[in-house]
Amino acid sequence: MIKKIAVIGSGVMGCGIAQSFAAQGYPVAINDIKQEFLDKAKQTISSQLDFLVRFGSISMKQKSEALTRCSFTTNLEQAVKDADWVIEAIPEVIEMKWSLYEKLNKLAATDAILSSNTSTFPLSLLIKPITQRSRFFITHFFNPAHLVPLVEIVKGETTDTVQVDEVVRMLKEAGKQPVLLKKEVNGFIANRLQTALMREAFALISQGVADPQDVDRAVTEGIGFRWAFLGPTRIADLGGLDTWKRVFDNIAPDLDKSTGAPELINQQVAAHLLGAKTGKGLYDYDGETVHRILEERDQAFVQLAKAKS
Ligand SMILES: NC(=O)c1ccc[n+]([C@@H]2O[C@H](COP(=O)([O-])OP(=O)(O)OC[C@H]3O[C@@H](n4cnc5c(N)ncnc54)[C@H](O)[C@@H]3O)[C@@H](O)[C@H]2O)c1
Repeated sequence: MIKKIAVIGSGVMGCGIAQSFAAQGYPVAINDIKQEFLDKAKQTISSQLDFLVRFGSISMKQKSEALTRCSFTTNLEQAVKDADWVIEAIPEVIEMKWSLYEKLNKLAATDAILSSNTSTFPLSLLIKPITQRSRFFITHFFNPAHLVPLVEIVKGETTDTVQVDEVVRMLKEAGKQPVLLKKEVNGFIANRLQTALMREAFALISQGVADPQDVDRAVTEGIGFRWAFLGPTRIADLGGLDTWKRVFDNIAPDLDKSTGAPELINQQVAAHLLGAKTGKGLYDYDGETVHRILEERDQAFVQLAKAKS
């Protein structure tokens, strides 16, 4: 039974993951390599909780209780020694992850579950340095992890299914929506779907069919409006599979089939126009605009979560 959690890496994802569980009553030990990163993480979690208070999702009392349940330490041994589940959320660099796992082999309790929040590495690669392989699998959260419910789970042939079941049970209890993949596949489910859509979005812009604003509007006001409640297979069933056969047969031959990054992205990257972080990408930004967009996004996600529940 999972009673205590350790989150290793207190960046974008680590903060959201830790906050999700602390808000649900679990003590969470958060570890990073420098105290200044942990100080920043504490501030981030506190202001994310403030945001939930402001929009009526939690009370002030719940906020301070959640914060009290978070402990912050640069000492890995201290963070993991009595954790029942250790979640790794450090950068997507395989050598860094392997080096951490070698330490976890020795420092984590022998019956603790270990999981990685990797977005791209296959389990078969990640698991190489793990000595007790039955307890290691992938739990892939989505950004912002404290607001988005989906967690994709990838297990391997050697994974102990009892431990996976325990994580699934616990995630559901914490208000998450776990999806267990039946087999390993590059990009898991959601990022494959998202990448397929993005490829066509960039192709439409490059072909001069629409500008980025109208491509985005077609998603947020059309297909995306439905997708928060009805997934693509349900939509196909409701529309009629005979209708969808004609849609595929008529449109699929024209869809973009490139196998690398879209040319438009390559050009933007070469010109160092990387999006919000450089002030210009497909849209123009300044610091204040980015802050406002993120605040509006989080507010909309809170309302969407309420609507869905
Ligand atoms: N950012 C996203 O949108 C997103 C979404 C899903 C999954 N992921 C995955 O989650 C993982 C973390 O991504 P992120 O965006 O939070 O990264 P990040 O760079 O924001 O944070 C990583 C943190 O890990 C810390 N760290 C590095 N080495 C460490 C070590 N040995 N021990 C403890 N802490 C260490 C860093 O100091 C940093 O604070 C990656 O595997 C990434 O692919 C990211």
